Amino acid sequence: MAKAALVTGGAKRIGRSIALALAEESYDIALHYGTSAAEAEKTAGEIRQLGVECATFRCDLADEQEVLSLLPRVVEKMPGLEILVNNASIFEKGKIVDTEPDFYRQHVAINFTAPYFLSRDFARICKKGQIINLLDTRVTSSDFNYAIYTITKKALAELTKISAREFAPDIRVNAIAPGIILPPPGGDRQVFEKMALKIPLKKTGGLDYVVQSVKFILKNDFLTGQLIYLDGGENLE
Ligand SMILES: NC(=O)c1ccc[n+]([C@@H]2O[C@H](COP(=O)([O-])OP(=O)(O)OC[C@H]3O[C@@H](n4cnc5c(N)ncnc54)[C@H](OP(=O)(O)O)[C@@H]3O)[C@@H](O)[C@H]2O)c1
Repeated sequence: MAKAALVTGGAKRIGRSIALALAEESYDIALHYGTSAAEAEKTAGEIRQLGVECATFRCDLADEQEVLSLLPRVVEKMPGLEILVNNASIFEKGKIVDTEPDFYRQHVAINFTAPYFLSRDFARICKKGQIINLLDTRVTSSDFNYAIYTITKKALAELTKISAREFAPDIRVNAIAPGIILPPPGGDRQVFEKMALKIPLKKTGGLDYVVQSVKFILKNDFLTGQLIYLDGGENLE
């Protein structure tokens, strides 16, 4: 049975890099996407060029029923699933006083509820392997400008630790907390470069650093419940 990995939000940006990195490690790829169908097909083509299988799976992670059907759909096609990467997320600015219920619900559903139930289903159905959660270096801060986003990532950090204990020894669960890796879609590169001057290593990150971290977690089988701050020291500020 061929080994396989599911990457949520794998069509582009960080998710795409992780999917390609896992393909380089000879995993077949279940490439999840929400709205980026064309990008998902393009990335799937690049993955197949690496000599592994790739199937795309559309799923709105804000829809609970769709989330609950995702893992079973993937396993039906790729029974050797042994890696889940919870990468998809939304990142919207908003203080608590500005938060409307819909905005709140979307963040909680996509950034926390979906990884929670995908982790549950991975443990129930796959029974062994590993889970990697994408957090944010903001999990160490009390940044009220992105209040609900930050709270959902803090919750995902706790899920990483609790699930690492519950699912051991057969499933390892770890997390990567990126800092300034890529500007948000449509974001200003110059503003992003300026932000780098405020962190200890005084430079921006990049996709290669994410790939290095994923490969490190993947191969280090004495590691569980851990969080790698991939942020040029930003969490120390
Ligand atoms: N970029 C950074 O520098 C940075 C910094 C800190 C933390 N992170 C974390 O690293 C991860 C990847 O970052 P990124 O910047 O590459 O993420 P991103 O581009 O903002 O989002 C990744 C994907 O999430 C998917 N998504 C959002 N809502 C969805 C929904 N309702 N249903 C299904 N999919 C949905 C989207 O898929 P579709 O396009 O297919 O809809 C999107 O392509 C995220 O968890 C992020 O919080 C990134």
